[in-house]
Amino acid sequence: MCGIIGYIGEKDIQKVLTTGLKKLEYRGYDSVGIAVHNGDSVQVNKSKGRLEELHQQLDQHSFSGMLGIGHTRWATHGHPSDENSHPHTDANKDFAIVHNGIIENYLEIKRELIEKGYTFSSETDSEVISHLFYHLYDGDMVATIQQVVKRLKGAYALGIVSEHEPDRLYAVREASPLIIGTGEEEALISSDIPAVLDHTRDIYILEDGEMAILTKDDITLLQTSTGEQLSRDIFRVDWDVEQAEKNGYDHFMLKEIHEQPEALKKTTAGRVNQERKTVKFDELQWSRDRIEQWDKVTIVACGTAYHAGLIGKHVIEELTRIPVDVEVASEFRYRRPIVNEKTLVIVISQSGETADTLAALRQSQHLGANVLAITNVVGSSIAREADEVILTMAGPEIAVASTKAYTTQVLSFYLLGIYLAQIKQTITEDYRQQLLQSILDIPNQMEELLEHSAALRRYSESIKDASSLFFIGRGLDHAVALEGSLKLKEISYIHSEAYAAGELKHGTLALIEEGTPIIALITQEEVSEKMMGNIKEVKARGAQVLGVSMQGNMDILEYVDDGCYIPESLSLVTPLLTVVPLQLISYYTSLALGNDVDKPRNLAKSVTVE
Ligand code: F6R
Repeated sequence: MCGIIGYIGEKDIQKVLTTGLKKLEYRGYDSVGIAVHNGDSVQVNKSKGRLEELHQQLDQHSFSGMLGIGHTRWATHGHPSDENSHPHTDANKDFAIVHNGIIENYLEIKRELIEKGYTFSSETDSEVISHLFYHLYDGDMVATIQQVVKRLKGAYALGIVSEHEPDRLYAVREASPLIIGTGEEEALISSDIPAVLDHTRDIYILEDGEMAILTKDDITLLQTSTGEQLSRDIFRVDWDVEQAEKNGYDHFMLKEIHEQPEALKKTTAGRVNQERKTVKFDELQWSRDRIEQWDKVTIVACGTAYHAGLIGKHVIEELTRIPVDVEVASEFRYRRPIVNEKTLVIVISQSGETADTLAALRQSQHLGANVLAITNVVGSSIAREADEVILTMAGPEIAVASTKAYTTQVLSFYLLGIYLAQIKQTITEDYRQQLLQSILDIPNQMEELLEHSAALRRYSESIKDASSLFFIGRGLDHAVALEGSLKLKEISYIHSEAYAAGELKHGTLALIEEGTPIIALITQEEVSEKMMGNIKEVKARGAQVLGVSMQGNMDILEYVDDGCYIPESLSLVTPLLTVVPLQLISYYTSLALGNDVDKPRNLAKSVTVE
């Protein structure tokens, strides 16, 4: 949830830390701070608000030194305030720490330290860590870290600077992501790769239960509990820093919407034999016997990834006739799910770090299931712990509102469904070829769709003052409607709901009144007549309806107030196209309202807390 950066080396420390934090702001942005060891002592500057506020303070009083840590926060314990911002220190400023995660037993530790005479200046769980360092320090930093972490329960990625050691940066990981970057006479720690790419492409991924000691010339990785030294291969990042920059677009979200055709091509590349129209996944070594063993599939994810899972259910059931459940990870993990060695569990996570999804993965493995992960981040916790991984090739997704990660997740389900159907022989060769051709056509059709966004911009202006909005659809259109509604809520802050169109009359119709905006998705041919009936129901109550339909499907303008058309495709594959106008409507509505599109209020990109 929060972003951590740390640096040791000769460069301008203030600049390295603040530019790194800028790249991590998607992880949280309600407060920000840095601590720098200037050779004599540890200096801290932190404040509530965005990085700009910190910059203003640093303009008055800049920092220099060779060693420092920084943090951008997404509040969990204690509201955003100067005091609750990181880094936290002990009263003497002997130790400064930045923390990502949650210390579950912090109250117990806090009470104990208060009894011993320590005073606390924040409401955070994290502050106990800096006081524990002061309390337990015995001259040996590694031993002190071991003592400190023995006291902590929960999740933590830590960056630690000690006043006693001006030439060493320490990092610890337990259930929260942390990477180490190693460069020429410099080293960094960070919650995520883009923040270190200006300096190095050579990365070590710290695992749970490990710590690192960084000097400017050397990195030492240790098992935290035993102190045993570890050897690890360097992971070389092969994507460009520009991929994580805006490239001329006003916002990351718009850039990422436009990157979808390319992301889909990359996710397909190497997985489709274009001539024979078959799917291959080198990463899945599944025999027919193995697949026959699974009597059901359970998909687990959160938010947008969950919505991709809903499409996955339709696709896998349609193509293979294997029953599929889809569950929200935060619910799945706290019940007794019926999952065993006969279940294929599929977890979906863009970041690969979502705490609830990771817990669901572990629980499923514990129950004997085979877990396949669909994720966008190589080396993420979920990618490392799953039995098999399908990587989506979306490239770094920075905007909090997920777009290209969603479409590449949905695409992965089409490929997986076809792959399973090929092995189980549940679809004809003709249909498989038709399906694959439609999938291969999508990137060009999406490009075409993206060229016609002006009308959607006008429509967005017209709904920006609505107090509530409804998305309706049937079958796959309902699954896409759920995603459209989430997108609109998270960045425009307009209340919206998605409904299976046939369900409206069972209660929600009471909310429809003169002028209520409704976005009706009508791309599923077999239920389009039924949709028309539902549209008439809402029109009769005064709703203003935008219909989203397939070109050549039918003339919807007879029934709706405004129309938007997606290129012709197979019904099963349309979600990849239908979602695009919905993403653009959310974007333009948020823009029209003057919201911070890429960093909506109260949210963060990577949800590494429960
Ligand atoms: C919404 C959004 C979130 C994420 C959810 C899961 O636009 O991005 O709903 O989909 O937090 O995140 P990952 O996919 O990283 O597990």
